[in-house]
Amino acid sequence: MMGSSAKPVMTSEEFRLLKDYVASKFGLKLESSRREALSLKLLPHLRQLRLSTFSEYYAYLKFGPQAAEELNTFISLLTNNETYFFREESQLNAFSQAMLPALKEKKLRDGDKTLRILSAGCSTGEEVYTLAMLVLESGCFAWSWDVRITGIDVDHKAIAQAKKGIYAGRAFQSTPARYLKRYFNECSEGYQVNEAVRSITRFMVGNLLDVDLLPEGGLDIIFCRNVLIYFGDETIKSIVENLAHSLRDEGLLFLGHSESLSRITTCYLPLRLPEAIIYQLKGKNPT
Ligand SMILES: C[S@@+](CC[C@H](N)C(=O)[O-])C[C@H]1O[C@@H](n2cnc3c(N)ncnc32)[C@H](O)[C@@H]1O
Repeated sequence: MMGSSAKPVMTSEEFRLLKDYVASKFGLKLESSRREALSLKLLPHLRQLRLSTFSEYYAYLKFGPQAAEELNTFISLLTNNETYFFREESQLNAFSQAMLPALKEKKLRDGDKTLRILSAGCSTGEEVYTLAMLVLESGCFAWSWDVRITGIDVDHKAIAQAKKGIYAGRAFQSTPARYLKRYFNECSEGYQVNEAVRSITRFMVGNLLDVDLLPEGGLDIIFCRNVLIYFGDETIKSIVENLAHSLRDEGLLFLGHSESLSRITTCYLPLRLPEAIIYQLKGKNPT
């Protein structure tokens, strides 16, 4: 047990154990420069658990009676959940102005009236709801269309918040006023996403490294933005190739503006639009 004034220091060996464990479970890459930050984040939690050292915490995390639950708490402490509505406008313009109309044309030709979009690493849900608002606003997929926009994240707490759909402050830093007016209801804690948007969205907890996470071939578009920056190249390759299996023919992958697949995998073709680079499954024709 830890005395009231004792403050355990995370040794480099303890950091290595935690770092390797997190890499094996979630693919996340913890740079050694994050040792101190990790230690500070974990300290209050160690106190709560009445553990004296990070080695004890490692044993508790890996072999403790509630190891699975503890892993969820640990990953919540580690993940960077930074997100907000209408993040990276240029890509969203490419999505709503170029890709959605082209996709609708193609789907009408094929007699397919479904639209399936995934936000992989959706954090607290702002990206999912942004995509839903853009789909509704486009008017391309109204009436008899079956639209579903799904958000997946490994962080249980983030997904719980996404399901509530209530936001305030910084979440709205880039939100045009007309969207706030049209798609949200004011409530005591801020603004809640309205039913029109919620009805075409859903959320689930999941690890992008899990090969059985997604069914094969059902998705039209995947957004996986500002997620891959936390992984090493090997893990990025596994994740984007895993995502490729869940895309339909000619399916599209949007990455964050600082993320790229060059030198990672050859299974996507970069489509260079004026405002953004989008990746399409290789060997297929652009929509
Ligand atoms: C910085 S947020 C990006 C949110 C949103 N895509 C955006 O661009 O605004 C990164 C998210 O990726 C999630 N994440 C990290 N590793 C993951 C994994 N292995 N599986 C699923 N989600 C993961 C984190 O929990 C975090 O919420």
